[in-house]
Amino acid sequence: MKNTSKSRREFIKKSGSAVLTSAMGFNILSAKPRSSKNLNSDTLKVGLIGCGGRGTGAALQASLADPNVMITAMADIFQDRLFKSYENLKSENPDKLMVDEDHKFIGFDSYKKLLATDVDVVILGTPPNFRPGHLAAAVDAGKHIFCEKPVAVDAPGIRSVIETAKIAKEKGLALMSGFCWRHDIPKIDTYNKLKDGAIGDIHTIYNTYNTGANWFREQQPDWSGFESQMRNWLYYNWISGDMITEQAVHSLDLMSWAMGDVMPLRANGTGGRQSRTEDQYGNVYDHFAIVYDYPDGRKGFHFSRQQKDCYRSYHIDMMGTQGRCYIDVGRKHEITGKEQWKWKGEKSNMYQNEHDTLFASIRNGKPFFDGVRMANSTMLAIWGRMVAYTGQSLTWEEALKSEEVLGPELDEYSWDLKWPSQAVAKPGITKFT
Ligand SMILES: NC(=O)c1ccc[n+]([C@@H]2O[C@H](COP(=O)([O-])OP(=O)(O)OC[C@H]3O[C@@H](n4cnc5c(N)ncnc54)[C@H](O)[C@@H]3O)[C@@H](O)[C@H]2O)c1
Repeated sequence: MKNTSKSRREFIKKSGSAVLTSAMGFNILSAKPRSSKNLNSDTLKVGLIGCGGRGTGAALQASLADPNVMITAMADIFQDRLFKSYENLKSENPDKLMVDEDHKFIGFDSYKKLLATDVDVVILGTPPNFRPGHLAAAVDAGKHIFCEKPVAVDAPGIRSVIETAKIAKEKGLALMSGFCWRHDIPKIDTYNKLKDGAIGDIHTIYNTYNTGANWFREQQPDWSGFESQMRNWLYYNWISGDMITEQAVHSLDLMSWAMGDVMPLRANGTGGRQSRTEDQYGNVYDHFAIVYDYPDGRKGFHFSRQQKDCYRSYHIDMMGTQGRCYIDVGRKHEITGKEQWKWKGEKSNMYQNEHDTLFASIRNGKPFFDGVRMANSTMLAIWGRMVAYTGQSLTWEEALKSEEVLGPELDEYSWDLKWPSQAVAKPGITKFT
């Protein structure tokens, strides 16, 4: 893909890096100038906020998505994570990495410093509690965005993301989420067949994300209690949103896609914690089972589990009036009934597809926009957690209006923060707020 057109350059400048002073008062001109070697006026400069496993992967994919891209800034709360990420990127694609020492930012305010540089595109790869705030700041600074899923951990966060997405759209910014299955070729082909009526009208969907234990970072002697939580963020619902939001949300997104992204009317369900009950596993559950009632009597059943040595399944099984579609997420795509069909073809990397699409959309002046959809899919998971934690049945409106805020405000974070540890939720006792 070549980018030589003046109009493209103007578009990128208008909607990307040419916002000199943002409403938050950052002046990008205050960032120190760098050597301009390997950069030209068409280069799309990329900044990575949250230099962990996924963020680093996404940065690499961004660096491969367009011939004239350069990663120019990185931000993390931990020096060691940023260093490791930098070294990985350097070994994978050194020609597309130009992050001077004064463009490596550390700390809870590192995102502000990165957004104050001249990056055109930012990758938001932190744990999800930071996403609504980082997203708002990135849009405010006029950056194109790739943000990992989930996009929030609570309903106020979702409402904020919906507002931010509107502004991003108005500003003509590209906004892509990490709901990567929507960029997987076998799924796109299968869902196109469903849209064409291959199984008639879908009335029931059963979806799972039943997996083993997740990673755990051993406590180190010099970690404070708060640092332990930030390092092992998966196990604290105020940081991760719990496993249904952090991980199983992918299956809910697949369900939502098949249901035409129409939101259910009501949900109820259950969940708990059986296999990882020790304090080091914070306050999250290790299994959920949720029923979503869609309009016209359609139903969605979701099961997720993170328990070691148990049966695993990552499936979506869709029943329609004229057949069935079964997807074993990474492996099999099959339609039976009135039509018999199996997906066959060349697989491609969905993570790379996401970035190829995002960067092409920036180049051609038609910014990709995932805004409301990514908020809705995330909300399905938050809602599932709410009904499981409380043992109540809740409507979409009730869940979305929830005032429960799980974590501190973005500007309250500091290493001195003493965020109270929250008890494990007990259905029937934990109240819905
Ligand atoms: N789409 C997918 O398939 C997929 C796969 C894995 C993870 N994810 C998502 O990606 C996100 C990150 O997950 P991960 O596995 O990379 O976790 P990780 O722990 O490896 O990385 C998170 C990084 O963010 C940093 N960080 C934390 N708070 C920060 C802040 N306020 N500012 C800057 N940096 C901060 C951490 O130090 C860490 O380096 C999560 O939302 C996760 O759900 C998506």
